[in-house]
Amino acid sequence: MKEHLQQEFSKTYNKAATQTYFSPGRVNLIGEHIDYNGGLVMPCAITFGTYLLVAPNNDKVFRFKSINFTDTAEIALQQNYTKQGTEWYNYPIGVITYFMQHGKELQGLDMLYYGDIPISSGLSSSASIEVVTAFALNDLFNSGFSKLELVKLSKWVENSFIGLNSGIMDQFSVAFGEKDKALMLNCDTLEYEAVNSNLNDYVLAIINTNKPRRLAESKYNERVQECKTALTALKQELDINYLCDIDTNTFNEYSHLITNKIVLNRAEHVITENDRVKLAAVALSNNNLQEFGRLMYASHDSLRDLYEVSGIELDTIVEYAKTNTSVAGARMTGAGFGGCAIALVKGDQYDNFSKAVTEYYANKIGYAPSVYCSLIGDGVRELNEVVKS
Ligand code: GLA
Repeated sequence: MKEHLQQEFSKTYNKAATQTYFSPGRVNLIGEHIDYNGGLVMPCAITFGTYLLVAPNNDKVFRFKSINFTDTAEIALQQNYTKQGTEWYNYPIGVITYFMQHGKELQGLDMLYYGDIPISSGLSSSASIEVVTAFALNDLFNSGFSKLELVKLSKWVENSFIGLNSGIMDQFSVAFGEKDKALMLNCDTLEYEAVNSNLNDYVLAIINTNKPRRLAESKYNERVQECKTALTALKQELDINYLCDIDTNTFNEYSHLITNKIVLNRAEHVITENDRVKLAAVALSNNNLQEFGRLMYASHDSLRDLYEVSGIELDTIVEYAKTNTSVAGARMTGAGFGGCAIALVKGDQYDNFSKAVTEYYANKIGYAPSVYCSLIGDGVRELNEVVKS
């Protein structure tokens, strides 16, 4: 794989890459649409991700090429870039903009990206591109950012450069992920614990709906806004900064303050989901995968009915999972509106599950999903094997 990337780099730029970096994607086990509400999430980095090969140039330009997309770009070393259309290279350009605006000295770079994460599938391919770029620039130009600062600046790119008001979960998990661990992250304090994701005899299956996610961005920002409206209503009587500052009992006591039914549903999802993450952490530490699975199903139901970010494709996968006794639990993961579902499947039944869910889904939806057996991997890093041309 890496040799192939190096060959592609040489072919494109007529020289060898000097460094290779990698940032994973992520799945979120539970705690969905929680990060921008200041609560608890449980993501893990996966072994799929984005490779970035680089070599400096003396032309004072950044050149971007990706094996996954046909569009390439070249920009001069200057400040004040703005987003150009919806092209993939807005993510690295956003990162470069942040470095420039913060007085970091950069030089020209030739860059080649390759992602083996399915794009737009809810596995954080964009956070992966942002974080791998930020990590590489920081390393190559000794910019002195801490890893947490790299996470925050990558979130800035998403929020202020791209325009998606997302939380910090994706950038945090692809930067700080650890092999075989899930991160219990408090999105308010950013304190986290890497917990053993001991799945006993279960494995984590990722099922990609292969549904293009068109309206995802505008619907996402709409949900963020609805949560703000709910918070403002609750603040009339409660001294809180985030929806996740209260639990389900307190919510039930004060929910009358929210008069709009849709906004009420959104808040109910957020607050009950945050409580589910706490229960899920206990279940995981007790190796109680059945209980963990039950919470996954409950999470999915809430995302479908109250938060309304699922859809027929994701629901079909979860509906199938419920009929299969080798599955402990399943749910959509990530923002929703298409993308991927995850399922906890008995390891020795994985192949049967993969075949059966594919058939069930294809019959109902009209095209096949892609099913992967996921491994939990490490966060962003330089790949230490020297890549030779
Ligand atoms: C997207 C966002 C995250 C998070 C999830 C939903 O992945 O980038 O910040 O809000 O959706 O949990």
